[in-house]
Amino acid sequence: MHVIDAVEPLQSKIARWKSQGHTVGLVPTMGDLHEGHLNLVRQARAKADRLVVSIFVNPLQFGPGEDFDRYPREPEADSGLLEKEQVDVLFTPGEAAMYPQGTQAVPQLSAGELANILCGASRPGHFDGVATAVNRLFEIVQPDLAVFGLKDYQQLLVIRRLVAERGLAVDILGGTTCREADGLAMSTRNRYLNAGERAVAARLYAELQAAAALIKADSPARVQILERAVENLAAAGFRPLYFELRRAADLSVAGEQDRDLALLTAAYLGETRLIDNLLFSL
Ligand code: PAF
Repeated sequence: MHVIDAVEPLQSKIARWKSQGHTVGLVPTMGDLHEGHLNLVRQARAKADRLVVSIFVNPLQFGPGEDFDRYPREPEADSGLLEKEQVDVLFTPGEAAMYPQGTQAVPQLSAGELANILCGASRPGHFDGVATAVNRLFEIVQPDLAVFGLKDYQQLLVIRRLVAERGLAVDILGGTTCREADGLAMSTRNRYLNAGERAVAARLYAELQAAAALIKADSPARVQILERAVENLAAAGFRPLYFELRRAADLSVAGEQDRDLALLTAAYLGETRLIDNLLFSL
């Protein structure tokens, strides 16, 4: 595995691969890799001839007061894990390589209407920052395919929209969410949880499962089901931000006639913001 931090040497390597007829896969990450990331890496590895994994903690997607400064950075451990997955290149750009104009001056892309709902409502600018970083990585790597976790379902749709809008020739694949034994979705931010918080954290997924089961059983009281989930989370010590039923296709509010649905939630547990979702069909 080659570790490359500059754009030019990466691009000449990729040009060489492409001239040999190889397809290129990309898995963008912010590092501190866990099994969930490795699952995305394996999915990309199985589909592309050559594989680039990027690690860049993107300042544009963190709001004021969020965890940019304390976000875990574990370059050595990450590199060891990726080496084992037969990654061809680990791309570790600095801010100057990602944003040559500087982070203040870089023109930010818009994530459109998805930017302002669900997670976007409490994280203004977050999805625009994600779209800007991912677009820049696509511009540098020119991948044939890229894999993103389904755990960040809204992010996945933001990226699909970006690709459609800009007419980019990259296949966007969603990777299944990896869970701890008790159901908690794997996330870098789980390591912020103290022991007491960790003990109740899986309740988030349990509430998604319980609500999905009731909706599948055709309960007419959808609003009450969602309200009850919020109450249960609050009683368990969470500070829920939202718990909503949406159309899986575009995250608009789900109606009775919609069959492909997404239950999505975000909640603080102590200082830690957790998100999760459950996709299902009726
Ligand atoms: O999901 C992430 O880790 C980040 O949002 C991403 C896609 C790497 C963009 O910075």
